[in-house]
Amino acid sequence: MQDKIKSLIAEVEIFTASTKEQLEEFRLKYLSKKGILTDLFAEMKNIQPDQRKSFGQMVNELKIKAEEKLSKFQSALEDASESAPDAGLDLTLPSEPNPLGSRHPISLTRNRILDIFKRIGFTVADGPEIEDDWHNFTALNFPENHPARDMQDTFFIEHRDGSDSIALRTHTSSVQVRIMETTKPPIRILAPGRVYRNEAISARAHCFFHQVEGLYIDEGVSFADMKQTLLYFSQEMFGSDTKIRLRPSYFPFTEPSAEMDVTCSICKGKGCNVCKYTGWLEIMGCGMVDPNVLKNCKIDPDKYTGYAFGMGIERIAMLLYNVKDLRLFSENDVRFLEQFKAEA
Ligand code: DAH
Repeated sequence: MQDKIKSLIAEVEIFTASTKEQLEEFRLKYLSKKGILTDLFAEMKNIQPDQRKSFGQMVNELKIKAEEKLSKFQSALEDASESAPDAGLDLTLPSEPNPLGSRHPISLTRNRILDIFKRIGFTVADGPEIEDDWHNFTALNFPENHPARDMQDTFFIEHRDGSDSIALRTHTSSVQVRIMETTKPPIRILAPGRVYRNEAISARAHCFFHQVEGLYIDEGVSFADMKQTLLYFSQEMFGSDTKIRLRPSYFPFTEPSAEMDVTCSICKGKGCNVCKYTGWLEIMGCGMVDPNVLKNCKIDPDKYTGYAFGMGIERIAMLLYNVKDLRLFSENDVRFLEQFKAEA
């Protein structure tokens, strides 16, 4: 009998369980009410009194070893199931959304403007935002005492030598000069970029904003060419039923100069609060490049003529997306920017 218990102890000692089922089988075999230990304890009364003590000790040893094994594997199997790769995971749940970035409405609008002009042969040119007096003003035929040179409009940058002939460009027309100085006509370029003006920030004005400048110089370029090009642009941008009108205006660098209006894209010319009940919206300045400007850039005004135009990207974006406050474009509020998600 004692040998039998010894072999049971040995059996318990080498027992391992890798599943809960194996462990339960072990528990039923040794420790349950109908298990081996219950039988052995019941057997006690049949043992000779002088052997009862050692028999009891051995049965107890078997019981303790079996209980130890049970609790050791219970906790091991418990830990393993918690740290298993799929513990507590519901693999049928939808995955976390992967948020896509969005383009800024100013970039979207700029790209649309560029695309429309690229289709008729314009290419994109670039120039510096920190500009000298010559390219921003003098070459563009600004008289010496023109108010636009005034401290109120221009952010001058003081030189180390105390002079203030460097400034943040106030318009992208400066790029016209740089291109004309370095390129032989025909010239057909667009210059998009950021410009700076010393203005109080409000819903309608900012100290920096964006413009797209256009320039076309060749032999025999006429005002009619300009008008047709700008009509094409306006209809591509705001819809094929859009009309334009040119009102006489003044810019130092164009002669004649005009301001161009398009029929209000919001009320279709009927009158609303965006167009102030006029049915028209002003979107750009334009004109024939002044012969003085051509001369300043070493282009022969007797041989070449050309037109130029300049528009504010914010202004167009406000009309396109019905945005009422210019400041939204530079505040980087994701609640605003997220609304432009769907566009490429
Ligand atoms: N530079 C002008 C401005 O900032 C816009 C402009 C008007 C550009 C007429 C031109 C032009 O090229 O011909 O207000």
